[in-house]
Amino acid sequence: MFSHERVIIRRGPDSGLPIIVAVHSTALGPALGGCRLKAYPGWRDGLADALRLSAAMTDKCALAGLPNGGGKTVIALPAGTIPEPELRTAALHDAGTVIEELGGRYATGPDVGTGPDDMVTIGERTRHVFCRPVAAGGSGDSSPGTAAGTVAALRAVCADRFGSPSPAGRSFAVLGLGRVGARVARLLAEAGAQLIVADVDPARRTLADELGATWTTPGEALTAAVDVLVPAALGGVLTPSTVAGLRCAAVAGPANNQLDDPATADLLHRRGIRWAPDFVVSAGGVISATAVELQHETPDQVAARLDGIAGTLTGLFAAADRDGITPAAAATAEARRRLSRRNGPAD
Ligand code: PHE
Repeated sequence: MFSHERVIIRRGPDSGLPIIVAVHSTALGPALGGCRLKAYPGWRDGLADALRLSAAMTDKCALAGLPNGGGKTVIALPAGTIPEPELRTAALHDAGTVIEELGGRYATGPDVGTGPDDMVTIGERTRHVFCRPVAAGGSGDSSPGTAAGTVAALRAVCADRFGSPSPAGRSFAVLGLGRVGARVARLLAEAGAQLIVADVDPARRTLADELGATWTTPGEALTAAVDVLVPAALGGVLTPSTVAGLRCAAVAGPANNQLDDPATADLLHRRGIRWAPDFVVSAGGVISATAVELQHETPDQVAARLDGIAGTLTGLFAAADRDGITPAAAATAEARRRLSRRNGPAD
């Protein structure tokens, strides 16, 4: 079912590239969602990504307790291209123009392929942008917040599965050492966890060595015998075939849209593997960016909010067990409740 409020697809006048801005819902407030700059086989694949990711942002914001809805921007590069700086700037300007036309119904931030400096470029066309560098008046990189929220989620997962929230002595396979994954791995190593790590970029191996982590291939990391698998790269890693090969007690990570299909959550459940919904685990970025830029909160207040992800997850696990459903179903139901409370008569 098509449930998005508004989707704009345009050939960017400055860049000539497909610019896609999907606003899924503003029922709880202005939509939030990052700007993804990524190569796709075709622009329709970028559109599919924008539709899925923006819908997930609606659930993410609702469960994070934010007065915001979900959206996403995708700049769909032709397969195999890495844009020259001028083309990159032009594409970000094109995205900013579309966002400005939405008049505040949607604000963007960093995502796969973009960072704080790119938010400055988008900000040359619109005010509706989060996470510009601190020197430029923003809250800076959102990945520390996302990583801190992920570690809070992992503590809740450890408490749920092993009776203690401490990651010390537990084993984790971190799949993807990008801006968020690398920080999560570091925080886990500092907390005394045993780590297996992987990334498609062989240069990330130096981080593995520094952390005393075992470096392996993404395929091996996915099926490693560990306590918790932590997907921290691109989405779609959990499919019927990968789930069949998993050897972990739980899966919890910051990658967006980990399931190839919602039904895959049931497969995980049937295998007795706890899946922490990605849209709950990865909320730290939007939580911290809005807490700093809109609420002007102190670092301690932001940290407390990020810790709140653990309580949200614990509540979802309890609701799932009580109702005999998956944590994913419990999370979706809770998001629906929060959205309908805003939309319709009180229930
Ligand atoms: N990439 C972030 C996410 O998926 C998006 C974001 C971060 C948007 C910060 C606004 C502010 O949650």
